[in-house]
Amino acid sequence: MKIFVTGASGFIGGSVAARLAADGHSVRGLIRDPKRCGELPAHGIVPVLGTLDDRELLRAEAHAADAVINAADSDHRGAVEALLDGLAGSGKRFLHTSGTSLVGDEALGEPSDAVFTEETPVQPAPDKLARIAIDDLIRSAAPGVHSIILCNSLIYGDTLGPTAQSVQIPPLVAQARESGVVRHVGRGLNRWSNVHIADVASLYILALERAAAGSFYFVENGEASFGEISSAIAEAMGLGKAEDWTPAAAIARWGRELAVFGLGSNSRVRADKARRELGWVPAHTSVTKWILASLV
Ligand SMILES: NC(=O)c1ccc[n+]([C@@H]2O[C@H](COP(=O)([O-])OP(=O)(O)OC[C@H]3O[C@@H](n4cnc5c(N)ncnc54)[C@H](OP(=O)(O)O)[C@@H]3O)[C@@H](O)[C@H]2O)c1
Repeated sequence: MKIFVTGASGFIGGSVAARLAADGHSVRGLIRDPKRCGELPAHGIVPVLGTLDDRELLRAEAHAADAVINAADSDHRGAVEALLDGLAGSGKRFLHTSGTSLVGDEALGEPSDAVFTEETPVQPAPDKLARIAIDDLIRSAAPGVHSIILCNSLIYGDTLGPTAQSVQIPPLVAQARESGVVRHVGRGLNRWSNVHIADVASLYILALERAAAGSFYFVENGEASFGEISSAIAEAMGLGKAEDWTPAAAIARWGRELAVFGLGSNSRVRADKARRELGWVPAHTSVTKWILASLV
């Protein structure tokens, strides 16, 4: 298949694009940094220079492709509209990357019992309404566009494609490297579901082949509190005990979006639907084991 992937230099998009190319697909990948274009061919990806704001480019690439994977930005509505426009009425597949912070709370390091499946009603935080509206727009494009949403939890692991890092664990590590102290938001009792990037890439490929039009899947294969994650980072880095950090200090360091929703919230989902309907058999089960084995 001819597949157009946005975010081809990123953690999710690059990993998925590299897997698709390795499987024999013809992959074109959007990249905005001309200096990095040269990295893509080594992973079998043809670079397409442009940004998510290049509406005509996105529309034309989507129109020419057999399928589109949008993995650059879960919150860029304009790009979604342009890609859907290019696919309109074709019945071709459009796989969009969403994220489970849409079920997240504002617990600032405190725990929660709330666990979500695809059927659980969500009362989103105001900051997440726009992401949910994008997901609704995409699902409502079916069946004219065979749209599919994969809603990822915290992703860990090493990229399978061009140089890239995930969004939650690396900032914790960077802060620890700079200060010599691993810190989590508040008491670090908040929990997130998680999943390894290799299992994510496998699920994208299965979803492309098997998912129904208009479908939505959570993506996880395990769960940990941020206190457990920061303790594993501290052990792996040979630092002392991980420490609680006031929400104000965490927001000053990481910004509100990352501190409150990425690192201080609870986001607990279950991906039984993906296992049951798509035959997904994820292999990696523990983010803390990965941290201990991989982080130096
Ligand atoms: N990683 C996770 O655990 C996770 C989980 C759930 C949802 N998500 C969401 O999934 C999306 C992708 O995540 P990721 O971890 O793959 O992030 P990433 O590594 O930062 O990758 C994003 C890629 O998209 C590109 N990009 C971003 N905005 C662009 C624009 N306006 N025009 C052209 N290219 C653009 C980036 O280019 P540059 O390299 O030039 O910046 C980068 O290559 C994000 O919205 C993220 O919030 C991530």
